[in-house]
Amino acid sequence: MEVISTIEAFRAAKAALPGSWGLVPTMGYLHAGHLSLVKRARAENDHVAVSIFVNPTQFGPNEDLAAYPRDLDRDLRLLEALDVDLVFNPSPEVMYPPNYQTYVTVEDVTNVLEGASRPGHFRGVATVVAKLFNIVGAERAYFGQKDAQQTIVIKRMVQDLNMPIDIIICPTQREADGLAMSSRNTYLDAEQRRAAPVLYRALCAAKDAFDRGERDGDRLRAIMRDIIEAEPLAKLDYVSAADATTLQELGEPSPQPSPLKGEGVLLSMAVRVGKPRLIDNFLYENGKWLTGEMAQA
Ligand code: PAJ
Repeated sequence: MEVISTIEAFRAAKAALPGSWGLVPTMGYLHAGHLSLVKRARAENDHVAVSIFVNPTQFGPNEDLAAYPRDLDRDLRLLEALDVDLVFNPSPEVMYPPNYQTYVTVEDVTNVLEGASRPGHFRGVATVVAKLFNIVGAERAYFGQKDAQQTIVIKRMVQDLNMPIDIIICPTQREADGLAMSSRNTYLDAEQRRAAPVLYRALCAAKDAFDRGERDGDRLRAIMRDIIEAEPLAKLDYVSAADATTLQELGEPSPQPSPLKGEGVLLSMAVRVGKPRLIDNFLYENGKWLTGEMAQA
């Protein structure tokens, strides 16, 4: 495994390894969720590249960029064990040199949910992912369902800009009590950690109601909200029951009929448990639920 920090060196190292490439973009501090993407990429491609880059353009001015957890040595040991070929670990100056001025803006689907709570976030995500796609030139790229809106934004960008890459979405990896794995879980103290599975419990309750026939968006959102609000350590940012393609809330009148409107339903939420802001979702698609995969207790 080679660890490379410049674009020229990355391209040269990649050119020396012919065959198909899978790319897993990350911000590091890897956990079993990230590693599930790497394993999938390993199984489906001749070669695997993982990027580790804490992308400054996707953090707001009051967000946790400086405090974002990092442990490159540990990350590299984990990736080495999974037989990764190349790790791309650029500095911010390599990705955004002086006089940098080009950004990718995906429109409607970034105006709601995470995009509404974190202005500019998806502009930073789309920009860095487009750059990584251009630098790496992989056939496939792997993303987690954990960041549901991010998967929609990336797929939209790839389709709209005719990028020659397949986007593969992998299931959310969960702790044994249902908490979705996240680098930010390390910020939770013991008491907050005990409260954090409330997101999963709220999603399960809305799913159960849906499975019993509930289709009223207001009811589904209320079921989730009530469970979050009953947990004293949790502070709700948003709950959503939305069309999985347009992200329009169920039960809200359409401004215009959307040709993209599909059958899918995305239940999602953002909740602060103490300082950490946690997100989670369940996706109902093609008649079945994608709720993720639970670690063994
Ligand atoms: P990061 O938060 O490091 O996540 C990297 C990838 O791992 C994303 O595709 C994310 O959805 C996936 N992932 C995170 N937790 C997961 C879990 N519990 N189960 C399955 N997959 C999980 O997402 C980003 O970085 C950045 O926005 C990035 C795409 C790298 C652009 O900077």
